Amino acid sequence: MAGTGEVWAHLLRRYPGAGEIRALDISGGMHRQAGRRLHQSKADRINHIKACVLVAAVPRASADCVISTCGLRTFNADQQRQLAQQVARLLKPGGTFSLIEAKDPVGWWLRPIHPVYMGRCLPLIESLFLNGAQDFAMNGTYRRNFGTCAEFAAALRETGL
Ligand SMILES: C[S@@+](CC[C@H](N)C(=O)[O-])C[C@H]1O[C@@H](n2cnc3c(N)ncnc32)[C@H](O)[C@@H]1O
Repeated sequence: MAGTGEVWAHLLRRYPGAGEIRALDISGGMHRQAGRRLHQSKADRINHIKACVLVAAVPRASADCVISTCGLRTFNADQQRQLAQQVARLLKPGGTFSLIEAKDPVGWWLRPIHPVYMGRCLPLIESLFLNGAQDFAMNGTYRRNFGTCAEFAAALRETGL
């Protein structure tokens, strides 16, 4: 769920010797925007793969690290189980994974404005400051449907991760 790859620059800075980044996203539009607008200078380090991450035929045990930011909530519970199996399948032995997700805050006085921020402000900020990127256009819908990461954590444990 690479989108326009907001983490890639940080990843390459943190691991300058890293090999290829394989960017999996189902949307050709996202890949085009990522290449054209944000990451032209790093194009030789990024391998864009247009595929559904749940079934993508990326070779088994071929990734040192699997990363996703704000992609998990795209999926329902069944799909999250498939995703957990895919993460386990892709990782080399001893590899690491990191999936970052945002859920609604509980017991926080600013909670009432959180949906407005996530659903309206964040897409606007992204569009204005990230060259018109639209990764968060569906943020409001995903936020409403996503609960917590508990089910996904359980699915990861089932795979042995
Ligand atoms: C909310 S965006 C997150 C993008 C990026 N990771 C970020 O943090 O800005 C979710 C991304 O998941 C992609 N996506 C949705 N379903 C997918 C699937 N089945 N396989 C691969 N990518 C998918 C969408 O095209 C979109 O780019």
